[in-house]
Amino acid sequence: MTSSLPADLSCPHVEPRAGSLRLSRIVAGMWRIGDWGMTVEQRVTFIEQCLALGVTSFDHADIYGNYSAEGLFGAALHAQPSLRDRIQLVSKCGIKLISPARPQHAIQHYDTSAAHIIASAEESLRQLQTDRLDLLLIHRPDPLMDFDDVADAFTRLRAAGKVLHFGVSNFSRHQFESLNRRVALVTNQIEFSPLHTAPLFDETFDGLHDLGVAPMIWSPLAGGRLFTAADARAEALRHVIKEIADRISQPFSSVVFAWIMQLPSKPLPLTGSGRIEAIAVAVAGTTFTLSRADWFAILRAARGHEVA
Ligand SMILES: NC(=O)c1ccc[n+]([C@@H]2O[C@H](COP(=O)([O-])OP(=O)(O)OC[C@H]3O[C@@H](n4cnc5c(N)ncnc54)[C@H](OP(=O)(O)O)[C@@H]3O)[C@@H](O)[C@H]2O)c1
Repeated sequence: MTSSLPADLSCPHVEPRAGSLRLSRIVAGMWRIGDWGMTVEQRVTFIEQCLALGVTSFDHADIYGNYSAEGLFGAALHAQPSLRDRIQLVSKCGIKLISPARPQHAIQHYDTSAAHIIASAEESLRQLQTDRLDLLLIHRPDPLMDFDDVADAFTRLRAAGKVLHFGVSNFSRHQFESLNRRVALVTNQIEFSPLHTAPLFDETFDGLHDLGVAPMIWSPLAGGRLFTAADARAEALRHVIKEIADRISQPFSSVVFAWIMQLPSKPLPLTGSGRIEAIAVAVAGTTFTLSRADWFAILRAARGHEVA
């Protein structure tokens, strides 16, 4: 599959908001790191292989792997400290899971109080064995969220040098704009793929584009369902993507990443794989664009009907 990839693949870097931080256009997602069964040395090697492809940004959350994923990555940074200044660390907070790692949690809930945001960010620093996060996101909108309280927590974390930039995840356009009026947000990390096209039509992308803020995209391959879903719509979609991929001599997944990155809000897709070949295929999606006809052919197959 990777035989058709250029040998000199190098992921571009972008500012998700002008004047903020630089992230690699493809960001390596660490949700599944515990499933990869890697030793510390293998995790160091994986990070170094990502860097060789120009993928320098790594996405975490406090809760990934039942509160264990940041620690696995942190152990790799401890083993190879020179990696830290060559990467950007993104993490998230605000969800409290029922977990053996948090026996005090009696119910799964959200907590976006200033006290929890600050305590969670400080715990992420300990787990990741670093002195700063490059970017901290509120993981999900919280019905009890007080925008002023969140802005206060962000301001205090920035003043302490513990977190350099801030954003949100899974926020509606209105929620994003409400918090962004109080403190400059650099991204909204949202779900988007050919199997989840809602953000094209609910103003999420339009609103971010208008503000000059690039979304980050989670589950760009629909968590793998793009390859496995057995319903007729997914079968037809796979057929269309494969026909385009074969015709333009690109890997199937590269076409999906290119389709996502073609949006004018300039999304930064996350990867979810521990296979370096899968990261390379995502980076290859930065090297070409689709014709409008091919872009809309994927949208048509995704939705099961033409645009009006
Ligand atoms: N903000 C949020 O609420 C939120 C929610 C979920 C995730 N995220 C972030 O987004 C990142 C990416 O999400 P995701 O893992 O769902 O991404 P994804 O890329 O949509 O899915 C990754 C899955 O697809 C599989 N896959 C990739 N290429 C494949 C192929 N050619 N054939 C078959 N299977 C293939 C992978 O398996 P292999 O491992 O075998 O390659 C992996 O299980 C996460 O790591 C996390 O950082 C954020």
